[in-house]
Amino acid sequence: MKARVFSGVQPTGNLHIGNYLGALKSWTKVQYDYECIFGIVDLHAVTLYQNPEDLKAKIAEVAALFIACGIDPRHSTVMVQSSVAAHTELGWMLTCVTPVGWLERMTQYKAKSEAQETVGAGILQYPVLMAADILLYQAALVPVGDDQTQHLELTRDIAQRFNSLYGETFVMPATRTPAVGARVMGLDEPDKKMSKSATGTGHAIGMLDPPDVARRKIMRATTDSNPAVDFETMGPGVANLLAIFQAFGDWDDDRIKGHFSGMRYGDLKKQVAEMVLESLAPIQQRYREITADPAYLRQLLASGADRVRPIADSTVRLVKERMGLHQ
Ligand code: TRP
Repeated sequence: MKARVFSGVQPTGNLHIGNYLGALKSWTKVQYDYECIFGIVDLHAVTLYQNPEDLKAKIAEVAALFIACGIDPRHSTVMVQSSVAAHTELGWMLTCVTPVGWLERMTQYKAKSEAQETVGAGILQYPVLMAADILLYQAALVPVGDDQTQHLELTRDIAQRFNSLYGETFVMPATRTPAVGARVMGLDEPDKKMSKSATGTGHAIGMLDPPDVARRKIMRATTDSNPAVDFETMGPGVANLLAIFQAFGDWDDDRIKGHFSGMRYGDLKKQVAEMVLESLAPIQQRYREITADPAYLRQLLASGADRVRPIADSTVRLVKERMGLHQ
């Protein structure tokens, strides 16, 4: 039997090339070696208020983008978190073995709670639900961007604590982040990770950005005071453009160095834009085809949930048995 993979994306904001290079692209690569489950984690999305109509539309958009990006529905399961009740059930059981201090220490909790006037309990709880997503399927591997590594460490801590309190129950999941592209930075602010919620129009390249919009953002990206690429002294903006090119093109370091050393920034940007547009075009084409048939998406998500529910339910049964809860 193949080992299992679980990973997920929140259906909020606009999926961008950072999400693609950090997560989705590596999902398409692992899907033939593992039994993969890819979740649209809507219960995580509502830790911050979401307009209900927008959320519904986003769930469908992300599902279509998964397939458009190369998730193969004949091999991988695409599902919506809230359609499998066991996520919430296991989330509660894991909450009860998780010290509050572990949650308060999470950097994303600190950042998100500082930005809110009232801090919803769900924001604190967020990583426990994420642990439930993963442990529910006994996933051996979780491919994510590198902003998720702390959450994955916590997942292992929670699994370990449960196992030591109640006996060996959960598989310990390993984290996998891509060698290049795990952390794509904002084009306008290359010292900040590319964000779905950043409002600056030059910040992120959306997976569905029209070609001229994407090109303009790249041509305006922040660089540094050098005129041309110098691998010794380049600033974060130039390094980011090179990393984007490298991750899309799957070039090795030597080829990148040989090709770009000494290249003027205007030319560098043109080449990065070409690479990005060339890579996005087929994805956007498939996206249009998929969304032209809403029945296909509905069916995909319904059958995805049906396929994984028995796995999830059997883990909940096992956990209940371990804890002495009523079946
Ligand atoms: N926290 C992840 C993010 O914001 C999303 C997520 C939720 C996830 N559950 C998960 C990722 C389980 C991997 C595995 O990107």
